[in-house]
Amino acid sequence: MTKKTLEGKVVLITGAAAGIGAGCARALAAEGAHVVLTDIDGARVQQTAESIRGSGGHAEAHQQDVTDEARWVEIAAQVEQRHGRLDGLVANAGIGIGAPMVEMTLADWRKTHAVNVEGVFLSCKHTIPAMLRTGSGSVVLMSSVAGMRGAAGLSAYSASKGAVRLFGKSLAIEYGPKIRVNTVHPGIIDTEIWAKIPADAENSRGKAPMDPHEIARHFAPLTRSGTPDDIAQAVLWLLSDASSYVSGIEMVVDGAMTAGGFFKP
Ligand SMILES: NC(=O)c1ccc[n+]([C@@H]2O[C@H](COP(=O)([O-])OP(=O)(O)OC[C@H]3O[C@@H](n4cnc5c(N)ncnc54)[C@H](O)[C@@H]3O)[C@@H](O)[C@H]2O)c1
Repeated sequence: MTKKTLEGKVVLITGAAAGIGAGCARALAAEGAHVVLTDIDGARVQQTAESIRGSGGHAEAHQQDVTDEARWVEIAAQVEQRHGRLDGLVANAGIGIGAPMVEMTLADWRKTHAVNVEGVFLSCKHTIPAMLRTGSGSVVLMSSVAGMRGAAGLSAYSASKGAVRLFGKSLAIEYGPKIRVNTVHPGIIDTEIWAKIPADAENSRGKAPMDPHEIARHFAPLTRSGTPDDIAQAVLWLLSDASSYVSGIEMVVDGAMTAGGFFKP
């Protein structure tokens, strides 16, 4: 029997209850990883882990707010105690709060950065030591195409994802050769985040949810929104030994949305 790509590896995934995080969890577990799933929604992340176990995968779940440093200390210690190793991190938990910049409250700006930037900092701070003790590791930080170019109405989100992009490159230099660090930049992926983007803003004034299919149809040359599995396959490759010489890159998975102008004469 051929060995699965991630057989014997332990990978922690944040924001893993739903969407891209859950897609990554399923794909990595299918390739033999033991996946440690965490999410602020404790009940839902338990269900995700149960469904992976139901399909024969190895998964455990923990309730966790990525902005809570004390919880990070507990989870990192539990993982090392239970498994004696940590091989990978997918720092995926993130939120989007949409509002025109002059209408955005300071509280919404800070909330965006607390989860998307400080949460990613804490994810790395508390898992990279375990990977160093393991001897090697691969870290994937979930950025966005909005972290590579501006996004009207999403300035806080875009700024936070741009921070993740350069944070990742800095870590790739600082922790090479033992740890590889890469950022993934999804385009328009069909998840629940699109319904939450306007609704979560303090000043949203009841704006309608955004429709990823409609946006992708206009802005992505492949004319469809992506699926969580489209992103998970990129993450799987970055966590595997097949990408052993790849660190410090930005992997864009966006249906050619950022390739240039979408104009066909
Ligand atoms: N869907 C897209 O089009 C898209 C595009 C680019 C980037 N991204 C990024 O991908 C990542 C996943 O997004 P998604 O589309 O799957 O969204 P989603 O809303 O479906 O899932 C996000 C998950 O993160 C969890 N979460 C939120 N705040 C948390 C916190 N403080 N601590 C722990 N968990 C928390 C949520 O409970 C949820 O399960 C995010 O970082 C997002 O910014 C998504």
